[in-house]
Amino acid sequence: MHPRILVTGGAGFIGSNFILQRRREDSASIVNLDKLTYAGNLRSLESIAHDKGYEFVQGDIADRSLIASVLEKYRPVAVVHFAAESHVDRSIHGPEDFIHTNINGTFTLLEETRAYWMGLAEAECKHFRFLHVSTDEVYGSLGPDDPPFNETTPYAPNSPYAASKAASDHLVRAYHHTYGLPTLTTNCSNNYGPFQFPEKLIPLMILNARDGKPLPVYGDGNNVRDWLFVDDHCEALATVLRHGKPGETYNVGGWNEKPNIEIVQTICDLVDEMSPRVARSRREQITFVKDRPGHDRRYAMNTEKIERELGWKPKQTLESGLRRTVGWYLENEGWVQSVTSGSYRQWIAAHYST
Ligand code: NAD
Ligand code: TYD
Repeated sequence: MHPRILVTGGAGFIGSNFILQRRREDSASIVNLDKLTYAGNLRSLESIAHDKGYEFVQGDIADRSLIASVLEKYRPVAVVHFAAESHVDRSIHGPEDFIHTNINGTFTLLEETRAYWMGLAEAECKHFRFLHVSTDEVYGSLGPDDPPFNETTPYAPNSPYAASKAASDHLVRAYHHTYGLPTLTTNCSNNYGPFQFPEKLIPLMILNARDGKPLPVYGDGNNVRDWLFVDDHCEALATVLRHGKPGETYNVGGWNEKPNIEIVQTICDLVDEMSPRVARSRREQITFVKDRPGHDRRYAMNTEKIERELGWKPKQTLESGLRRTVGWYLENEGWVQSVTSGSYRQWIAAHYST
């Protein structure tokens, strides 16, 4: 029998890309445990829905007895933990779900994983891994001339989202230090690519550009993010799972720092090219709107550790990745329609109405 991996949050953006990539490239089978919040969409996984090496379980990572029974039933060799509330703007408007899932949920998952891991035979116990997928946002905000974040940069989270992820990172660290659970943590920069829910910058801008709607850029548009194509992130996770050293953390990023306004202008030009219209450039749809409260100015990742120690490097450039992503959204209207239903429309109406 092939080894099995338990993935949490696999119906979300990065989790679904990870599952699809691993089913293409590995023999391990996968159990996907996901609550299916507004951000979880099984349509993203429909191509493998009948695959014998894939199973889906609907549930909450904060549900202790469910987690215990899933671990007991499927007996995974690793847990890859994506499940989270992940949108900064939502964390500003309603932080409670972020505390429930990102902090209490991660705690419950760690507790039940520890109990399961302690019951494993010695060899299985040694090879077991708990991979916690986290973010660069735990490090706070950089000034224009600061060096990029590295693994020893002190934590300074600024949004409720970042604070909840920082708390979960600390719990994971403590479970390794105190109990010896073989944990791995990755902190990654902003991802983009297929299957990202269109409340985040890149898919929101692609769809609004296509539809002739305003492109709402926060503040002066000069906030900087370090962008990574999602497949590259998933390969980094697979590399860390295979070769990472328990107890270690690894920064993952694309060395692709760009101000938001440049990303939005590039998207406008790509949509003009791939979905031409005669009237006017999509750049004319750009609208500067009120800034996000506490908006971090700049994120940038130093990824020398994972490159040097584990030999990982991103494959896509920002140019090639953005072109693929714009093409994917323009060609996958069925997926877009299936996720942009009731709750999505309510969020857009409430968030962008003033
Ligand atoms: P996402 O919001 O697209 O997906 C999150 C998934 O978790 C959804 O399928 C949702 O249904 C599920 N979920 C939420 N609460 C749950 C709960 N209580 N129990 C079980 N499932 C639950 O998020 P994403 O962008 O795919 O991010 C995945 C992980 O990667 C997160 O932990 C996030 O912090 C981290 N991360 C994201 C980025 C990024 O740019 N998107 C960058 C670095 C790190
Ligand atoms: P986002 O995709 O929400 O990711 P994060 O806040 O986790 O970095 O936003 C990326 C950047 O784009 C961030 O600086 C906020 C900005 N932004 C806009 O300017 N307009 C928008 O409508 C959104 C959603 C984001």
